[in-house]
Amino acid sequence: MATAASIKIPDNVVQETLEAHAILWNQTFSYIKSMSLKCAVELHIPDAIHRHGMPITISQLLSSLSISQDKSRYLRSIMRVLSQERIFKSHITPSGEETFDLTPVSRLLLTASSFPHNPNTSPLVLLSLNHRIVDSHHQLSRWFHEPDATITPFVMTNGKAIWNLGRELPQFNDLINKTMECDSNFLMNVMASKGWLSFQGIGTLVDVGGGTGLMAAKLVEAFPGLKCIVLDLPHVIDMTERKTDKIQFIAGDMFVEVPHADVALLKWILHDWKDEDCVKILQILQRCKEAIPPKEKGGKVIIIDIVVGLKFNSHTSLQTQLLFDLHMLASCMGQERDESEWRNLFVTAGYRDYKIIPYVDHMRSIIEVYP
Ligand SMILES: C[S@@+](CC[C@H](N)C(=O)[O-])C[C@H]1O[C@@H](n2cnc3c(N)ncnc32)[C@H](O)[C@@H]1O
Repeated sequence: MATAASIKIPDNVVQETLEAHAILWNQTFSYIKSMSLKCAVELHIPDAIHRHGMPITISQLLSSLSISQDKSRYLRSIMRVLSQERIFKSHITPSGEETFDLTPVSRLLLTASSFPHNPNTSPLVLLSLNHRIVDSHHQLSRWFHEPDATITPFVMTNGKAIWNLGRELPQFNDLINKTMECDSNFLMNVMASKGWLSFQGIGTLVDVGGGTGLMAAKLVEAFPGLKCIVLDLPHVIDMTERKTDKIQFIAGDMFVEVPHADVALLKWILHDWKDEDCVKILQILQRCKEAIPPKEKGGKVIIIDIVVGLKFNSHTSLQTQLLFDLHMLASCMGQERDESEWRNLFVTAGYRDYKIIPYVDHMRSIIEVYP
């Protein structure tokens, strides 16, 4: 009988198995990178390093954050993990001390008061890693067996759809709105500087699901002839302080009515809704179509969303798009679409033509759709 000691496994199989084992551990622990990032944002570590004005030691960082020096070993672990991911930069000084500095990534996490010219992207991290969303990912395998097609992983976890929960939990509503504001701020600055948006001769724009109106505020500032209407749910509109004579806020339901305008903007809206639920998605599009004039008169729907797998995609941005697709499944049973999936929606909704302006950031594109 062969004993374990007498079985000869070929070297290449041993090597392959060892590599596979290492990959498995690395993948299993990948979530710890995200959780370490969340911890760093919650502790305001980027602000502390920025205040310090030069690379910081763990001991200095602990003092700045008013954390006991007893925790030094563990904060160092978090900083080392995040430095591996280029969130921070570690350095050993000639005297052998380890210091940590900001990188372009952690500069995005500085709060406005700490660094006014940088878009503070922390809310985006905090919402995406909020326990209500992360817990929804724990439900995925159960969700695949769920017979009720209307139940989402988020509903299985939280008892309510994400947009309804915001109505009941003001803090969660606030986090969603802040996240959307920081993203609109970031994206609008990029699009304006690249000249990707043009509203010459356009009188009115309706921002469908436009949140608290930051995008609208940026648009009317950039295009003085433009007036905006922001449509969103009542508990979101209630939170806004941006009412001016150039921005009209309407509390309503985009599945029921979209106000008339020359152009309709749908930024980060359609990816919230599942394809199988296409009746709802097409309702949004059809309502926009009814609300806006024909192409010859400048009428169009502007969609800002991911188009998965467009040419010139880097490996990282394709991976982010694929992860975002699952993020949308967990949070609202939405999805990220490739070009053929987008085209199907437009054709089914009766639109004549569309144009894609690829990659306004490393994930998303602008799609102009014409009635
Ligand atoms: C992902 S956020 C995008 C917000 C904004 N367009 C942006 O990108 O900053 C989706 C928005 O859709 C709104 N929303 C969800 N269901 C809606 C509905 N039935 N009618 C109007 N707005 C809705 C949400 O309240 C939220 O503000």
